[in-house]
Amino acid sequence: MKWQDIFNTGIKLGQECDIRNYQDSGKYDGDYNDCTIINGDPGLEIKKVYTAIDVEVSELLLVRELNDKGAGIDGIISHHPMGSGAYRLTDVVDIQKYNWERYGVNQKIADGIIERMIEEENIELRSRNFLAVESASKLLEIPVMCIHTAIDNVVQNFFEKIFNKNSFSTLGDAFKKIESIPECIKTSASGDIPFIVKKINIDSPLGKIMVDMTGGVDPDSDIFKSLKKAGINTLIAMHYSLDNIKAIKKNKLNAIICGHMACDSIGLNIYSDLLEQGGIEIVAGSGFYRHRRISS
Ligand SMILES: [Fe+2]
Repeated sequence: MKWQDIFNTGIKLGQECDIRNYQDSGKYDGDYNDCTIINGDPGLEIKKVYTAIDVEVSELLLVRELNDKGAGIDGIISHHPMGSGAYRLTDVVDIQKYNWERYGVNQKIADGIIERMIEEENIELRSRNFLAVESASKLLEIPVMCIHTAIDNVVQNFFEKIFNKNSFSTLGDAFKKIESIPECIKTSASGDIPFIVKKINIDSPLGKIMVDMTGGVDPDSDIFKSLKKAGINTLIAMHYSLDNIKAIKKNKLNAIICGHMACDSIGLNIYSDLLEQGGIEIVAGSGFYRHRRISS
């Protein structure tokens, strides 16, 4: 596959799984600004990629080392954004607003929270240097891309399907299902175990759930009060900041935290299955627990 086609396959998959397209297919057919080709000729023919949740300069050196030993890796795919993909991360948070409103949060409240989130996150992002990998990839002549929200959309879709297909009577039942996901089994074996933030007994009814897996950044902790008011009882998420966990507890919500590496791996695995079908060989790197759902 060409480098550009590898990228486009991820974006198309992300659009297919975008919650804004659930009701009205094709409603959102735009880009995700935290997904971008950082380096490499778009027309370059690629046979083998190193794919990881996080890529730093050390991964580029690792790939060079592996290639010196004959690995034949043609490019690197990072899930977490870098370069312009990182500086433009706030361009994707509108998905979160759509999700909140879909579950009944008042539009004016959602607008206010999202506006503050974007402003604060932009201040934080602009104090950072996200150019290290970009510079190194050019010096080492290694193609690199980052593909973030498109993949998180896949994760959102994966968990929504689970909760649409099954009706779990208790929080404990839902948690058991999460624990049985292959990626969660693999992360758990490394000590990275899903957990429940709860205000009630796990044998209590699950109540109304909201899957919160996409939209670029951790939400502002003020949203949890509004989600509780909208009737949500349990959040299904990959990770939250400590401030957000405290706000979840304060607002008497439950949350199943499925695990950051497990969830990002689910999205990358579904994407990697498609790439393998296109003839690409995958080398799983930092934080990426490879599990095939379809054989190549
Ligand atoms: Fe992530």
